This record gives sequence, C-alpha cells and structure tokens, in this order.
Amino acid sequence: MRVFVTRVIPEAGLGLLRERCEVEVWPGDGPPAREEIMRRAPELDGILAMLTDRMDAEFMDAAPRLRVISNYAVGFDNVDVPAATERGIAVGNTPGVLTETTADLAFALLMAVARLIVPGVEYAKSGQWRTWDPMALLGRDVHHATLGIVGLGRIGTEVAKRGHGFDMKVIYCSRSRRSETERELGLEYRDSLEALLREADFVSLHTPLTPETRHLINGRTLKLMKPTAALINTTRGPVVDTEALYEALTAGTIWAAGLDVTDPEPLAADHKLLRLDNCVVVPHIGSASVDSRDAMARLAAENLLAGLEGRPLKASPNLEVVSRETR
Ligand code: GLV
Ligand code: GLV
Repeated sequence: MRVFVTRVIPEAGLGLLRERCEVEVWPGDGPPAREEIMRRAPELDGILAMLTDRMDAEFMDAAPRLRVISNYAVGFDNVDVPAATERGIAVGNTPGVLTETTADLAFALLMAVARLIVPGVEYAKSGQWRTWDPMALLGRDVHHATLGIVGLGRIGTEVAKRGHGFDMKVIYCSRSRRSETERELGLEYRDSLEALLREADFVSLHTPLTPETRHLINGRTLKLMKPTAALINTTRGPVVDTEALYEALTAGTIWAAGLDVTDPEPLAADHKLLRLDNCVVVPHIGSASVDSRDAMARLAAENLLAGLEGRPLKASPNLEVVSRETR
C-alpha cells in the first residue's frame, strides 16, 4: 500500500503508518505544489492531507487506486466530500483530540485583545514605558462581560466553559438548540445570530465553513455588534468578510478582533489587517500544542489505515463509504 503524507507530522502518526505501508513524506517546509500531488496520484492507495491541500474531483479522478483521504484537521472544507463518496473514497478528519487546545487558543486571543497584550508588549519593547501611566493601555474587562458563542459544537462548548470560569455571561446561537448543554453550563440561547451580535461583548466564531457560513460576518452583521465589542475567529477565515472587517475596525464599528484564521491565508506581511493596533493575528495555531498534534497524527494515521483496510474510520464525514463496501 502506497501512501503520501503531504507534510512532516509527528512521529506518533508516521510510525504507525511505516509499520504497515510504503510511506512518502513531503519533505518541504511548505505544502507540495498541486503538480507534486497530481504526479503521485496514479500510484496512491491513501493520502494523509493537510487543510492546505485541495482534495477535489480532479485529484480523485487522477488517483484510481485511492481508497482514503485522511485529513490532518477537524475541518474538511478543503475536501470535496460528495465527490469522494461518489467514488467510494473514505474521508477522515480529527475531531475531539484538538477541541480543548483550540478553545484555549480562542480564549487566549480573547484575553489578548481585551487587555491589549500585543500593544502592551510593543509599548514595553519600543521604549514608550517611561513611567506608570494612569491613562495608557486601557483595555476592557473579560469578567462579567457577555460572551457570544456562534456555533455550539465541541470547540464552542469548551470556549463557553472557559467563559463561565471567568464569570462571563455566556449566550449562544447554533443551528440546533442544545438544551442539555445549556442547562449543564448555564448558557442562554439566542434564536438568531442578529440577537447574539447585538448583545455580546465578545463574539467567538465556531461554525464550520460551508456555503451557508461563508461571510456570515459581513458589513451588515458587523454593524449589529456593539462599538465596544470584539470578534474572535478560530474557525475558518472565509466565515468573515475580510474587507468588511477591516472597514469595521478602522471606522470604529467594532472595537477589536482576534484572528487565528484569515482570508486569504496566509496574510502577506504587508497586509493592511496586520497594521491595525486593534487586530491581533496569529498564524492558524489553534491545534498547535505538542500533545494535540501528537494525538491528531495518531488519529489521522489510524483513519488512513482503517480506510486502506476497508474498516470504518474512527472519525469521518462519509462513514457510509465503508459500510457500503462491507455490506
Ligand atoms: C484546523 O484548523 C483544523 O480544522 O483542525
Ligand atoms: C469541532 O471539533 C467542533 O465540533 O467544534
């Protein structure tokens, strides 16, 4: 069985694969070019792909032996899942193992934005810190503020818990109401995004990227937010309209933003968002802890092996592929 791993990932996963397959790992410090993936396609039984690799029908058609695409991410908007299902190709993803790590990062961004951590570091480093200043670097309180969670999946739920720990009032909107979680965590449901945006001091996005959630946050919805509110995005860049966000941050429509994901991604070093004092951007590091990346590598490897062997994957958006085969 021949598999291609499109970036170096932790040995915890690579080791599992090497025991059972012929493994090629892309050695570059960036993603392989499209041609590199297409050139290997005809020979591949499986691919362990990153969120930066576009796994579309064209690739699948060039890979007649392919049985599984194991995505090294919880999100799978880079994979054409219906196309894979049609062709009997199993798709794997890595939910669960990165949930709390990503929630920690969302909260880190929230705290950094609220308390002006990045401007504070700059202030200290650049020699502006000449005395204790009663009027400098005045941020906003996190405790007792209202946290609005958009999308109460696994990660959204963990962010809600963290908000609770800081004595925040936590409200959420979600495709489906989650009454049990609501009671357990003392959350309040809002029946529309609009209602949530009008009320929240911090809005944290946790919806996957789909055609329905693309530009969910746009010029119109940003105007519903309080001028003192901050937007936190740790899901996928295109859930937010970048131009509209830039406008809102410069016009004072909202107070600040903290972004782990952007559109485009990466942002060029001279991108205008990176020049704003009220926008903290980190480079898509939600799941980037030693333990979470080890766990993702193990799960992605297990998914890949399961797909190669025609067993149900541990986590998959198209589990029906394997059950169809084994029926
Ligand atoms: C990262 O963004 C992921 O989806 O795991
Ligand atoms: C991702 O794991 C989510 O469901 O939020």
